Amino acid sequence: MQKSAYQKPTINKIDFTTASKYGSPIKTQNIRTEIDGISVHELTQQFGTPVFIFSERKITELYNNLYSAFSSRYPDVQFGWSYKTNYLNQICNIFHKLGSCAEVVSEFEYQKARALGIEGKDIIFNGPYKPYEDLKIAVQEGAKIHVDNLFELDDLEKIATELNMDIPVAIRINMDTGIYPQWSRFGFNYESGDAYEAVKKMYESKKMHLVGIHSHIGTFMLDANAYKLATTKIMQLKEQVENDFGAIIEYIDLGGGFASKSNLKGVYQSVDVVIPTADDYAEAITNVIYDLNKSEKLPKLYLETGRALIDEAGYLLTSVHGYKRFPDGKKGYILDAGVNLLYTSTWYNFKIETDKRYEGDNEPSILNGPLCMNIDVIEENLMLPPLDRGTVLSISPVGAYNYTQAMQFIRYKPAAVLIDMDGKAHCIKEVDDLATVNYKEV
Ligand SMILES: Cc1ncc(COP(=O)(O)O)c(C=O)c1O
Repeated sequence: MQKSAYQKPTINKIDFTTASKYGSPIKTQNIRTEIDGISVHELTQQFGTPVFIFSERKITELYNNLYSAFSSRYPDVQFGWSYKTNYLNQICNIFHKLGSCAEVVSEFEYQKARALGIEGKDIIFNGPYKPYEDLKIAVQEGAKIHVDNLFELDDLEKIATELNMDIPVAIRINMDTGIYPQWSRFGFNYESGDAYEAVKKMYESKKMHLVGIHSHIGTFMLDANAYKLATTKIMQLKEQVENDFGAIIEYIDLGGGFASKSNLKGVYQSVDVVIPTADDYAEAITNVIYDLNKSEKLPKLYLETGRALIDEAGYLLTSVHGYKRFPDGKKGYILDAGVNLLYTSTWYNFKIETDKRYEGDNEPSILNGPLCMNIDVIEENLMLPPLDRGTVLSISPVGAYNYTQAMQFIRYKPAAVLIDMDGKAHCIKEVDDLATVNYKEV
């Protein structure tokens, strides 16, 4: 029998906050040795740490699952990839290859979609701030403009005059769907009549006509019923504007907001219990359209799902740089990735897995990042065995919003790697360096 390695004895303060009803999890270790068949060690040897790893297989599985939930119920469904969720070029390309058009919320994202070869007509242009010149280009290129506010309507009126055209537009609306706080900042309110008045203003200008109605009711929506209410109100407005202004509403867009299988802080039930399924969301939306549609043709249904299509496809690999024993007895690890790379750490409890089994009992540990900032804490109370310097931790799910919102703060933004459908790993974004960071500084 192999003798186990000597462990220096320590006295651990029992921390009841980490104990479950089964007692303190002293021995349980969460281990991840590979991602899509490639060992974690191979990945870190080739690409270093910290590094974001994305799985094309998982993205494809998530996409196909959601798409079939909708397309099996409804004849005309189109997904628009929400660029802000993850706009690495190769990630956008995967979604476009799968059939998504682009959903963008700024001139930068618009230009990115165009540079990836997406035609204007296949770009949904959302967002509260669309600079005049960029809005004009989008109109000229036939993009789907989703109007957010009255100032934008004025701009569109001027653009219509400049270009001597009648612009087809969609309107973003917000409403009470029983989810609070209500997202009332974007678009025009339905219940107050603002949305109807905005459409009236469009038709009075004689320079625009309404072809679509959009709403994005919030993110991580745990109640599929909210989409029932949103669809009901969109369909009611559709009927009103078709009757009153002769509008022909070609499409409705339910935005994003479906929850991914991530553990929210403060939610103690398993994700399989609290997260609605793709079928729940699809059933809620499509049934209402069938019930309320009064036109000859069913409207095309757009969805701009972001996090639910990529969160679980993303991992962050980070190395233990060292550790300290704090005065209260807790062990604090210093990692090479911190909150600079993990924007969603504020509301997710990540799954944190070691690269192999480690000798010794678990003890409450803090995971700190590399920043010289007190707030750089990824986990405050995680039961971990004694980890060596160089241990690789895999943090997931981090596919949504973390790469796009990662800060170039104190350290360089890291590399990103895609494991393709054949199980091959490719660097899709190199680590920044001084030249890329200083680019354009004088
Ligand atoms: C207009 C719009 N559409 C789609 C999305 C994607 O949302 P989610 O990632 O919650 O699906 C967002 C995100 O905030 C959004 O603002």
